Amino acid sequence: MVDEDAPAEIESLLREDRRFAPPEALAATSVATPELYAEAKADRLRFWADRAREQVTWAKPFTQVLDWSDAPVAKWFADGELNVAVNCLDRHVEAGLGDRVAIHWEGEPGDTRTITYAELTAEVKRAANALAALGVARGDRVAIYLPMIPEAVVAMLAVARLGAIHSVIFGGFSAQSIRDRVLDAGAKLVITADGGYRKGRVFALKPAVDEALGMLEAEGANTVEHVLVVRRGENEVAWNAERDLWWHDTVDLATGEHEAEAFPAEAPLFILYTSGTTGRPKGILHTAAGFLVQTSFTHKVVFDLHPETDVYWSTADVGWITGHSYVVYGPLANGATQVMYEGTPDTPHPGRWWELIEKYGVTILYAAPTAIRTFMKLGRQIPEQFDLSSLRVLGSVGEPINPEAWVWYHDVIGAGTAPVVDTWWQTETGAIMISALPGLTTLKPGSAQVPLPGIKVEVLNEEGARVDPPNGGFLSVTEAWPSMARGIWGDPERFVDTYWAKFSDPAAGKWIYFAGDGAHVDEDGDIWLLGRVDDVMNVSGHRLSTTEIESALVGNDLVAEAAVVGASDETTGQAVVAYVIVKERHRAGHSDEELETLLKAHVAKEIGAIARPRQIYIVTELPKTRSGKIMRRLLRDVAEGRPIGDTTTLADPAVMKLIEEMSGSPATSSITAGLKPKRK
Ligand code: WTA
Repeated sequence: MVDEDAPAEIESLLREDRRFAPPEALAATSVATPELYAEAKADRLRFWADRAREQVTWAKPFTQVLDWSDAPVAKWFADGELNVAVNCLDRHVEAGLGDRVAIHWEGEPGDTRTITYAELTAEVKRAANALAALGVARGDRVAIYLPMIPEAVVAMLAVARLGAIHSVIFGGFSAQSIRDRVLDAGAKLVITADGGYRKGRVFALKPAVDEALGMLEAEGANTVEHVLVVRRGENEVAWNAERDLWWHDTVDLATGEHEAEAFPAEAPLFILYTSGTTGRPKGILHTAAGFLVQTSFTHKVVFDLHPETDVYWSTADVGWITGHSYVVYGPLANGATQVMYEGTPDTPHPGRWWELIEKYGVTILYAAPTAIRTFMKLGRQIPEQFDLSSLRVLGSVGEPINPEAWVWYHDVIGAGTAPVVDTWWQTETGAIMISALPGLTTLKPGSAQVPLPGIKVEVLNEEGARVDPPNGGFLSVTEAWPSMARGIWGDPERFVDTYWAKFSDPAAGKWIYFAGDGAHVDEDGDIWLLGRVDDVMNVSGHRLSTTEIESALVGNDLVAEAAVVGASDETTGQAVVAYVIVKERHRAGHSDEELETLLKAHVAKEIGAIARPRQIYIVTELPKTRSGKIMRRLLRDVAEGRPIGDTTTLADPAVMKLIEEMSGSPATSSITAGLKPKRK
């Protein structure tokens, strides 16, 4: 279903007529050339085969490009062999680039490490030896739960080097989330840290792993043999002598010689869990070669990467796909020099990011709109205290960037000259799919613009027919691409149902990927993203499932029923707003404030702080259709302070009427008062 709000949004976006041509100097030395589009248009498969030969060093060259016979599970370059870690490390050292800095790492307290490609290669070899000694072999799953420290990158690459499969779990997730992910993947090893730094304090990590493994033990479902622990926070941790090992006692003592094996192109590289419309996170599976080809190619052309001179910084955490594709694999395969920062943007002062850009001479910055909007609110006087003149390309990812934030980013951070590339993609697409190219494209603030060369995208209506500009519809990808997900771990049917069932016609051999986003194309062919069309929210650029949070709430003994919606939020894009019916017998014992506090903490514990609702309304009824479906649209209206829309399909319009009568506030009309809003 297309969001009812879409038409209004389309109209307002169409009034955006500011245009920014590529700066001359950038155009003159652009890594991307217009021929890329022409080549891809002439022969898409040949285009990707050329990219695969150019981007990757093959141990055994491929002869097949795309095998789509098992659609929608693609095989790309399937008879080729490679080692992903060797492509990110050893080959640069062998090419004489061992002394180039791979990572300028900055801890939140201000401690730093500078790691060259030679050093990173040696460290990954040691880690690979240590992991192999712990029994990790090809195809085994390793869970990684670490802060943004170099060991996170080392761990991922060591796993990849062995042909094992990593599952990185974002360091903000709860014990319950770790349990679910470790169980689903059947992980053999967990790599974690005692703790890391966040907002000026050490936050513990290992206790959450201990708790998760404790749950699995109790269920008789534990597959984890060892926990490898990096010392970072120096906080005290419980220790299980049979299971736990310190990284410094294990990896540091391992030998630095490691002969890497070559693996088939389609060998699994990692699983990354992401929220869908149902309660269970999906383990998105990516395989080696196609992922490496498209992440490295897009990293090069979208950011105009000149690896000899650029200093690149993606502020994403390795726990998300952006951290996989554009902190670890893409940049390292390209031999880039990058900044990696452990902490929050405002610690110890609100100019920390800008200070780091000045300190390291960052030339390319890749960040999320939510951060840009936060900085915008704080005001330009903060970035203006720092020398940001090194910046020449700015990137945005995670959610639509509104034109005002785009222009602020361009003017205040990019000195009015640095192009802003708005990159659209997903965990499932593995790499950037829609974006401007900074040396070629005339930019339009607020639009992600055009599919990259080799990518075919269409906006379709409910019937699967292409919609014409300027109408909106469903964003779809109509041809296979190298870094596409190869499935959902352990659930091939769900993969087909979620992404392919909507528009494909398997009998006709037609496979169309449905991204779950609304979009429209303007008269110039530029694409404007309109947000999710399903029950997935986008909070600070991170995907959260309404169902998952509802399940967490209903899992609390106080709660009878819950409905969760994503309400638009000035800073975070969307915010979690929950409507909760409390069980009758608990009503009297608690005030609404108490319930709100309790339930917010409950969600944070069950899923992680990122899912903590901004508001919880304690209500006595929820608006439902005759078939019992909660009408989230009405709840969103309330959460966003709008007059409520059409209620004719409600099973009991009196619910809204009753609430309307209780309402004292005409501005938010209708159901607000009955729902006892506590707007902040
Ligand atoms: C949203 C993050 C508009 C979108 C890389 C998508 C965007 C979801 C953009 C994927 C963008 C990401 N403009 N929306 N430039 N980038 N999105 O899997 O709704 O964490 O479906 O991947 O984020 O989120 P994910």
